[in-house]
Amino acid sequence: MTIAGFVYSTLQRLQAPVIRRWYDHMTRIDRDGNMLFMNYGWAGLDEPRSLRLEPEDEPFRYCMQLYDRVAGAVDLEGLRVLEVGCGRGGGASFIHRYHRPVSMTGLDFAPKSVEFCMARHAVPGLSFVRGDAGALSFPDAEFDAVINVESSHCYPSMKAFLDGVSRILRPGGHFLYTDYHSPAQLVELRRMFGECGLSLIEEEDISANVLRALELDNDRKKALITKLVPKGLRHMFCEFAGMEGTHTFNRSFRTGDRIYSRFVLRKPAPASVEDAEVRELQPAGV
Ligand SMILES: C[S@@+](CC[C@H](N)C(=O)[O-])C[C@H]1O[C@@H](n2cnc3c(N)ncnc32)[C@H](O)[C@@H]1O
Repeated sequence: MTIAGFVYSTLQRLQAPVIRRWYDHMTRIDRDGNMLFMNYGWAGLDEPRSLRLEPEDEPFRYCMQLYDRVAGAVDLEGLRVLEVGCGRGGGASFIHRYHRPVSMTGLDFAPKSVEFCMARHAVPGLSFVRGDAGALSFPDAEFDAVINVESSHCYPSMKAFLDGVSRILRPGGHFLYTDYHSPAQLVELRRMFGECGLSLIEEEDISANVLRALELDNDRKKALITKLVPKGLRHMFCEFAGMEGTHTFNRSFRTGDRIYSRFVLRKPAPASVEDAEVRELQPAGV
């Protein structure tokens, strides 16, 4: 490793405790548990409110639509699913209720968030654990699908994360992933996918959809920040939430400085397994 590489990776490692504290702080200020999501959201450009939701889920529409866009790429019914970086558990709960996996596990490295999730979303089939994206400690081939929503930009090593995802996925399993990157990071990321044994099936630039969601969800987030955050800290929270008037809102996704992407990846299965799966899908007698 070069000296510059060493300094960079040390700085990245030192960031982790600060990020963890930041997310735990959110749990402390949100005493009534109003904040179930912490992503920018997704809205269709022609039909912004495309997803059918239960009335109690309406306030979280755009954040849920982002999850639906990512998780809906494959049929998760009856599968074992893990979400890494589950935050306040709203996404894991959404997938559990709307996409019906046999088990849904949410993992996060912020202890207070995990405690919150366990208390708030205590239903059979949905569980939460504390863990680090860079050191996933599940057995090999434990999951049929791994989901990751707007969390990976916090990780000190994307390579360590992708290696872990590839190991804990069963052959033929899917990695459903979304986050924002600079154009240079995207080039590096595509190279890393292959290196870590994951095949890229689909990649979509959803920056325009995320911007539309930021516009449409602005008033709800503004009311939440005004209610929960002391005046002196509101500016910082607004930047974090991508509110109207912030750098994220005005520049990042509009100018292409940052691109918000959605990916579908697959851990290849040995040819014999692929053949058996195709036979299973064919009607009897074919
Ligand atoms: C912007 S929030 C998104 C949360 C959730 N996915 C959502 O969309 O509401 C990022 C989350 O990633 C988690 N996170 C950051 N670094 C992590 C790591 N190394 N391991 C596990 N979780 C991590 C944070 O604690 C936080 O909950």
